Amino acid sequence: MTASSSFHQLLLPCLLAAVTLSWISSAVEAARPRVLLAPASSSRPQSKPQPGAAPDQYLSGHNQARAAVGVAPLRWSAALGSEASRVVRIQQAEKGCEFADLSSSRYGANQAWASYAVRATEAVRSWVEEGKFYNYGNNSCAAGHPCGTYTQVVWRNSAELGCAQATCAAKGGATSSLTLCLYDPPGNILGQKPY
Ligand SMILES: *[C@@H]1O[C@H](CO)[C@@H](O)[C@H](O)[C@H]1NC(C)=O
Repeated sequence: MTASSSFHQLLLPCLLAAVTLSWISSAVEAARPRVLLAPASSSRPQSKPQPGAAPDQYLSGHNQARAAVGVAPLRWSAALGSEASRVVRIQQAEKGCEFADLSSSRYGANQAWASYAVRATEAVRSWVEEGKFYNYGNNSCAAGHPCGTYTQVVWRNSAELGCAQATCAAKGGATSSLTLCLYDPPGNILGQKPY
């Protein structure tokens, strides 16, 4: 990933998320979806749609982040993967790959929308990167910086993972993508620490 795309991942997503979502970030709450914008065309990543990204492309980033804080690895769940596929296909067919409303889901969920066909590993990395805003001492995100996708990634009681991606054609021939991971049991229980 280029420095340019890192910049976009860090700054613009925060701005957009702050405008489009009204959740309060002072405590760890439901994971706020991530928005990833393509860098300038000269440095656009060479991503290709990966509707069938292998489980390990999702698992490895999760389990490295979990190992870093002494939490056991997640296992892949084919059932969760199927459910994630079902959800992203609906968003693809009916919602132009927008975020799904999973507020009443029985699973934990992390989502990343990208203005390009993001790699599965890169979507996971965008969630893990929120960890720099997480303060373990008071179990809070830094002011103005959501970190709930990170705390779901490292949530100790979450044992199983299943993920899927969909891509959508956007105006002007561009491609957007939605990445969704589901977690069971769900994390981000209010008042609990992730680990
Ligand atoms: C949590 O602790 C950090 C570091 O001491 C501090 O900067 C931050 O304001 C605290 N957050 C809350 C919500 O108390």
